[in-house]
Amino acid sequence: MIKSPKKPAKKNDHWADLEERLQKANSSEEIEVIEQEIFGRKHGALTVEMKHLQEASAAEKAERGRALNEKKKFFTSLLDEKRMALKNKSLHALAESDRLDVTIDVPAKERGHLHPIPEFIREVEDVFGRMGFDVARGPEVESEEYNFNLLNIPADHPARDSQDTFWLKRETETTDPNKKFVLRTHTSPVQVRYMKSHKPPFRFICPGKVYRKDADATHSPMFHQFEGMMIGKDITLANMKAVMITAIRELISPKAEFRFRTGFFPFVEPGLEVDMRWQGEDTASREGKWLEVVGCGMVHPKVLQNCGIDPQEWQGFAFGFGVERMIMIRNQIPDLRSFYTGDLRFLRQF
Ligand code: DAH
Repeated sequence: MIKSPKKPAKKNDHWADLEERLQKANSSEEIEVIEQEIFGRKHGALTVEMKHLQEASAAEKAERGRALNEKKKFFTSLLDEKRMALKNKSLHALAESDRLDVTIDVPAKERGHLHPIPEFIREVEDVFGRMGFDVARGPEVESEEYNFNLLNIPADHPARDSQDTFWLKRETETTDPNKKFVLRTHTSPVQVRYMKSHKPPFRFICPGKVYRKDADATHSPMFHQFEGMMIGKDITLANMKAVMITAIRELISPKAEFRFRTGFFPFVEPGLEVDMRWQGEDTASREGKWLEVVGCGMVHPKVLQNCGIDPQEWQGFAFGFGVERMIMIRNQIPDLRSFYTGDLRFLRQF
C-alpha cells in the first residue's frame, strides 16, 4: 500500500511558516531560534521527520528521504544566505557610521619640542662627541676652593667680588675656602673635579648653569656655559685652534672666519679669545663685524698641579663658551631675556 506522497497540509504550512519567518528575520538571535526549530538535535522539525522516516516502508523512505534532504539543503543555504546578508548589513552600517572625511580641515596637532637651550646643548654634546670628548657634569653650588682657588684665581681678582658672585650664607663665619660656598660663576670648577678624578690623557666638555649678579639685555643672573678640556702629552695650541674652529663652524656657521687674540684668564697661559665673523647674503646685517665667542688657552701649570697632574708630563688646553651667546649669534637674537620669559611666539620659532 502506498501512502499519499503529499505531506499533510498542516506540515506544509509549518515549513512555509518557518521559511517565511526566516526570510523576515532581522537579527542573528532570531535566525538562531529558527535554526533550532529546524535542525535542533531533539525537537528540530527536520530531525523529528528524519526519525519518523525510520518507521516508513522502504519505498516511502526513498521518496520522503529525498524530499527531506532537499529541505535540509534548502534551509541550510537559506540560513547561510541570511547570515551573510545580516553581516553585510552591519558592516555597511559600521562603514557608514565610522566614515572618515579625509578632506575635512582639522587643526594640526601641536607637538612640543625642547627649549632652544637644552636643544643646543645636545648639539654641542654631539659635535664634541664626534671629536672624542666625554661629557661631564658638576654641582651648581661650589666651594670657594673649587670655583676660584684651585683655578688660580687670586683672592683680589674682580671675579670674586660680591658684586658679581652669589655667596651662600653661612651660620658661622669661616675663612676656610672649602667651607665657603658660591653658586658657581662659571663651569671651570668642573675642570678641577674632572682632573682630580681622572688620569690623563682625556678630553671632555661640561655644559651647565652658571650664576652671576648681572641682568640686562645681554646678561642674566643665570645662564649656561660649556667648558671643555683636552690634556695629553703633546697637546698644543694648534690642536686647540683646530677644535675651536671645527666646533664653531659646526655650531654657528660653516662660513665662519676666525681671529685669535690674546686674552687673560688666570687658569690658562697663554690665554686667548676667539672672534668670529661670517659673510653671506643671509647675514648681511652682520657682515664684517667681529664677535667674540670663546675664551680659551693652554692650561696653567699651577692649575694642573693643584689638581694632581704633573705639568712636566702633561699639557693641554681648556675653553669656555657661553651657550646663550652662541645661540644669539647664530639666530640673531637681540635680547637674552627672550630665552627665559617663556613667550611661545619666541619659542615656537625653534
Ligand atoms: N671661565 C671663563 C668665564 O666664565 C671662561 C673660560 C675662559 C673658560 C678661558 C676656560 C678658559 O676654560 O680657558 O668667563
